[in-house]
Amino acid sequence: MWWLAHGEQEVPAGVDWLTLREQTILAELRYTKRRVEFLTRRWTAKRAVAMVLGRGLTTTAVAGVEIRHHPSGAPWVAVDGQPAAIDVSISDRAGWAVCLVGPPGGASGPLGIDLELVEPRSDAFVGDFFTAGEVAGVRGLPAGEARDEAANLIWSAKESALKVLKVGLRADTRDVEVDFSQERRADGWAPLAVTGRDGAAFPGWWRRDGVFLLTLTGRQLAPPPVQLEGGGNLAEAVPLHSWLARPRV
Ligand SMILES: CC(C)(COP(=O)(O)OP(=O)(O)OC[C@H]1O[C@@H](n2cnc3c(N)ncnc32)[C@H](O)[C@@H]1OP(=O)(O)O)[C@@H](O)C(=O)NCCC(=O)NCCS
Repeated sequence: MWWLAHGEQEVPAGVDWLTLREQTILAELRYTKRRVEFLTRRWTAKRAVAMVLGRGLTTTAVAGVEIRHHPSGAPWVAVDGQPAAIDVSISDRAGWAVCLVGPPGGASGPLGIDLELVEPRSDAFVGDFFTAGEVAGVRGLPAGEARDEAANLIWSAKESALKVLKVGLRADTRDVEVDFSQERRADGWAPLAVTGRDGAAFPGWWRRDGVFLLTLTGRQLAPPPVQLEGGGNLAEAVPLHSWLARPRV
């Protein structure tokens, strides 16, 4: 597996790297936030898939990769207009996007990735969305950084697993329970495990880069993904909210 991150400031101004369908979607986005998020997610995901498929990064190569959606909103990849057997998952937060890509051929099965900022989560949020075990774990930590990191990590891992299931937040977030380790590898990844109420297992990984927190899950245990070259560095990334200066396009 591979992953890539990009910030909104790295997205080109032109639209020749988008397919006509993507250009049509873009033209209909009236709110700057939606537009910037769409472009940053597309720039990141199309480049990541183009690299993993060995297409190179010419404008034509990137334009030929399209991320389309199932009715659920779950992404699938088309290459030169044809469905491609390769799994992706995408997320964005505060001006930054990440994409996780499985091996060509689709051997990874469905994937989930989620990017969050480590920020305060209220006691009510934890009580409403977490299982009893998760609530006890979070409330047992000292208030502040440790509790905020755990709360955002649990939330993020739930979103990742619900992306693997392709249901997203249509599901009850308490239907999946998150367990995680603080044993970080030299490359920054630490293991996590999400378990469904029905026993379904979603093994994965998490990492903390500066103020950002990243989780990913799949249906089978796999080594952490390799970061593709040429992307942004989340460890030094500053959260961006540029849309606030001009909310409407
Ligand atoms: C999946 C979901 C939790 C992600 O929400 P989020 O935290 O705001 O957004 P993120 O930036 O982390 O992720 C966005 C990406 O999630 C992916 N995604 C959306 N729905 C998904 C689903 N059902 N399963 C898996 N992935 C999904 C998409 O790739 C999307 O990016 P894209 O539209 O540019 O391709 C949320 O979109 C959701 O619950 N969707 C299903 C319910 C819904 O409201 N659907 C309406 C659209 S059909």
